[in-house]
Amino acid sequence: MNPMKPIQSISPERLPELLRRMPKAELHMHIEGSLEPELMFALAARNGLTVPYDDVEALRRAYVFGNLQEFLDIYHAGTMVLRCEQDFYDMTWAYLQRAAADHVLHTEIFFDTQTHTGHGVSADVVISGLHRACVDAQAQLGISASLILCFLRHLSEAEAFEALEQAMPHLDKLVGVGLASSELGHPPEKFARVFAKARGLGLHLVAHAGEEGPPAYIWSALDALKVERIDHGVQAMKDAALVARLVKDKIPLTVCPLSNLKLRVFPQLAQHNLVQMLDAGLVATVNSDDPAYFGGYVNENFTQTFAALQLTAQHAYQLALNSFEASFLDASVKLAYRHRLNEFFETFV
Ligand code: HPA
Ligand code: ZN
Repeated sequence: MNPMKPIQSISPERLPELLRRMPKAELHMHIEGSLEPELMFALAARNGLTVPYDDVEALRRAYVFGNLQEFLDIYHAGTMVLRCEQDFYDMTWAYLQRAAADHVLHTEIFFDTQTHTGHGVSADVVISGLHRACVDAQAQLGISASLILCFLRHLSEAEAFEALEQAMPHLDKLVGVGLASSELGHPPEKFARVFAKARGLGLHLVAHAGEEGPPAYIWSALDALKVERIDHGVQAMKDAALVARLVKDKIPLTVCPLSNLKLRVFPQLAQHNLVQMLDAGLVATVNSDDPAYFGGYVNENFTQTFAALQLTAQHAYQLALNSFEASFLDASVKLAYRHRLNEFFETFV
């Protein structure tokens, strides 16, 4: 069902406000990518560490990337300040406050443990800090948050199995597993067995595919990993048979426009293919990926993308609806959010 009041009656001048205030879910955001320079310096000081930049401004000036790998190198360096449970809590709490301010009602947060265990921080510390912030956010901010453990695809299958094993005591705190890090040269199929194991544990499955990598990586995320959602997936538009498959199976795509711009997947936002994706019938959503590095949280992604692509209130409704439909929420909760979205559009004046 659609809202009763025609969406077309919402004037284009009101669009930025509509985008900011509309209820939405965020399904693609790496918590380590929400670590703002100010908090990075504060955590470094608290832990007796130094950040290899003079100040916050100097660090921000370094956030210029030619591709995904250049970003990942800086992003991994930033994680070095995260040492104890409270650090992970503070980072997650900061993101959840910003998400709530953006009218995000539900968020599915990516994190990884391999980065942190690689420098001596246990998976228990990571997951406990993230989870405690999610619990507090539900109680204090009214926002629901679930956690998705990402395996790092540039590492081995054995290391992914080890990460899953270390997360086993915290299975009740996870909604799914994903696949992140350097895409080119690391096709998904290496992780078929670990994804099968995660599926057997009742976890949902997602994977980054078709960000920089070819459509073939999206095919193998679907067929070898059996994922339910594709993260990014913008390269799917190069393969008509793949688009047909994604439409037929209603596989959602978590698109991150400002990320695509900053990592030079598209030279300009005006050249982004989000409209073509929606026109093709794909269940696309808008997300922030690594908001501290890519110039904005989810509402900034919405407002800049809508301005660049001249999208309409009807697109806004579709994208917000897609965000709830594509989530791993229970069907009854999805329905409740759909009603809330309709009510928002009907009463937006
Ligand atoms: N792609 C792959 N891995 C990542 C990303 C991304 O955009 N952000 C954080 N890890
Ligand atoms: Zn991502």
